[in-house]
This record gives sequence, structure tokens and C-alpha cells, in this order.
Amino acid sequence: GKGLAVFTSGGDSQGMNAAVRSVVRMGIYLGCKVYFIREGYQGMVDGGDNIEEANWSSVSSIIHKGGTIIGSARCMDFIKREGRLKAAHNLVTRGITNLVVIGGDGSLTGANLFRQEWASLLDELLENNKITKDQREKYKFLHIAGMVGSIDNDFCGTDMTIGTDSALHRIIEAIDAIVSTAYSHQRTFIMEVMGRHCGFLAVYTSLCTDATYSFICEDPAPLNWEQKMCAKIQEERKSGQRLNIIIVAEGAIDREGKPITAEMVKKVVVDNLQQDTRITVLGHVQRGGSPSAFDRILGCRMGAEAVMALMEATPETEPCVVTLDGNQAVRLPLMECVRRTKAVAQAMADKNWDLAVQLRGRS
Ligand code: F6P
Repeated sequence: GKGLAVFTSGGDSQGMNAAVRSVVRMGIYLGCKVYFIREGYQGMVDGGDNIEEANWSSVSSIIHKGGTIIGSARCMDFIKREGRLKAAHNLVTRGITNLVVIGGDGSLTGANLFRQEWASLLDELLENNKITKDQREKYKFLHIAGMVGSIDNDFCGTDMTIGTDSALHRIIEAIDAIVSTAYSHQRTFIMEVMGRHCGFLAVYTSLCTDATYSFICEDPAPLNWEQKMCAKIQEERKSGQRLNIIIVAEGAIDREGKPITAEMVKKVVVDNLQQDTRITVLGHVQRGGSPSAFDRILGCRMGAEAVMALMEATPETEPCVVTLDGNQAVRLPLMECVRRTKAVAQAMADKNWDLAVQLRGRS
């Protein structure tokens, strides 16, 4: 059977295990020899026990677990050619020429570069007598399929990334808990949520929790946000509301591109309205805990699709990323999605927020 390996890379997210399980079982079902690569690219470079053959039962009882059972890492060695050479050697000697990578845009870009370099890496290994001529010929093509695991929902081309729905569940549960204590004391709570360069979690959270005001990076706060926010809080209190929830995305900024922090927002509320105000930073709680039903199913479907894509690949097939379009798991050209995702980041760096939102499109 064909050699196929699965690994998770970059920040973890809930639902990655469902995806790993699906890749392993679909791979075995289709007659592949399936491997785990532990600790992301680092495990690929280090080899040894990090690359281990998986069987049907090695992925039993993992679908409900958060995080990734095969570990994840940000790897510096893989950035250097020397590291990639070691990684190629570790794959070829095990007969692995199909890779499923579950990670963010950086991890997927790394996989694409690896594929582009594959022939020259194999040539160098042959020259150095690390592999045989037969191996050079037999394993001359590397196929890549990606899936996006991230709580941020920050990847272009997919409606949802694996983990976002679970993170929303975690956030909403926490805010519902905060609301009950806020109600008792008539307090205002400033909640900081994750999302790095993407306000998706903050926007959905605001809608789900009846928030008074929210700050994100794609729609920077107006220069007079202090007055606007205070007026809105006052208006709601006058109408009888006993508490206010304000959501601050960790990447929130104002029109000048300056960060807006939970501390700043609290000071404005306290100074102008003398309200009893508290901050809660949810942090990595958002990335932990068991995956939602949605993320389990998403991981299952994407994992199966990724394996099918690899089995159907020809030498000319470009690497794909499996994305969600409506309710369909579909394959898109990996690098086109990465390019769009990077263009969004560039538009934001250029303070062209409208373009950023437009480019992000359905994601
Ligand atoms: O990309 C996922 C994410 O959780 C972001 O929301 C956050 O900014 C970042 O990772 C935190 O990174 P780390 O886990 O390295 O602190």
C-alpha cells in the first residue's frame, strides 16, 4: 500500500483528533500504510519514534478529546534546508510520499515548499548515498493535502476552520457564567477573546451574548469610540439593563491602527461612568476542552476528503486544502487560499480594512 503520514502543526485546536482519526481510518480502509508524525515538523526532522505506524485502534477513543494526541510544535529546524533534508530522508526510508498536514497557513505553506523542493532534496540524498537509486525513482513524487485547524477562523476559502465552533462554545459558556455574577452586582465586564488577526470569534461572541459593544481589528474603532461606547452603555442602563458586556478581540485597534486593550476600555468606563467594572481574559481556555459535535463532524469529513484527494493525485496534481463550502467538504488549490489569506493580512497592515473584509470573503 501507499505510505501516508498525518501530522498536526502550529497552534492546536479542538477537532484535530477527529481529523487525525479520520485520516488514519480512511487511509487504512483504502489500503495505505498510515503513519503518525508526532510533534509536527519537528518530529518529521527528528524521525525515530516520532514517526510511528498507526493502526485502526490507535485512534480509538480520541474523537472526544481536545488538543491533538500526536502533539504539535512550531519548528525552527524545518525552516533550514538541512532540516528538510533530514525530514525527506525520514519519509523516503519509510516509503511515505503522501502527507496530510493539519495546521494554519504557515504550516500549509511549509508543506508546499517542501513539495516544491522534494526532487532536489532526493537528489542530494542520493548524491550523499543516503538513499538508493531505486528509492529515488520509486518515491519521486510527494503529494500534499491540507486541512485548517485553528480556533480563529482566519483562513480564506473555508466557511469554518476546525476548532472555531468549539472555541465559541467555550467562550459563550464562560460569558454566560460571567453574566450571572455581573447581574447581581450591576457590573460591566470587559471580556478579551482570542483571534490574533481575525475578529470572527469576537463578532460571533458579541452576537451570541447580547454584548453592548465590541472591538475588532477588521473594523477599527472610530476615533471617538470612548463617547460612543459610554453613550450606548448609559442608554442600556437607562432602559433597565443591569449589566454590560464588552468584547475586545486580542487584535483590536482604533482607526490609527493603535491597539485597544481591555485595560484601556475599563479605564474609559470607570472614568466616565464610575461603574463597577471588571476584566476577564479568557485566554487558552478557549482552545481547550472537548470538541463540539460540529468540529468532530468537520474533522471526520475533511480527513476523509484529504485522503481521497491524495489517492486520486497524479504527478501534476497541485497540493489541495480541504475546505468547507456551505455544507460540502471541497478541495481547493492550497496556495491560492494561502495567497488570499496573506493578502488579507497585507491589506490590514496597509490599513485598507474594506479590502481586507472583501478579500476574506466567505471565510
Ligand atoms: O491561532 C490561535 C491562537 O490561539 C490565537 O487566537 C492566539 O493569538 C494565539 O494562537 C496564541 O498563541 P500561543 O498559544 O502560542 O500563545
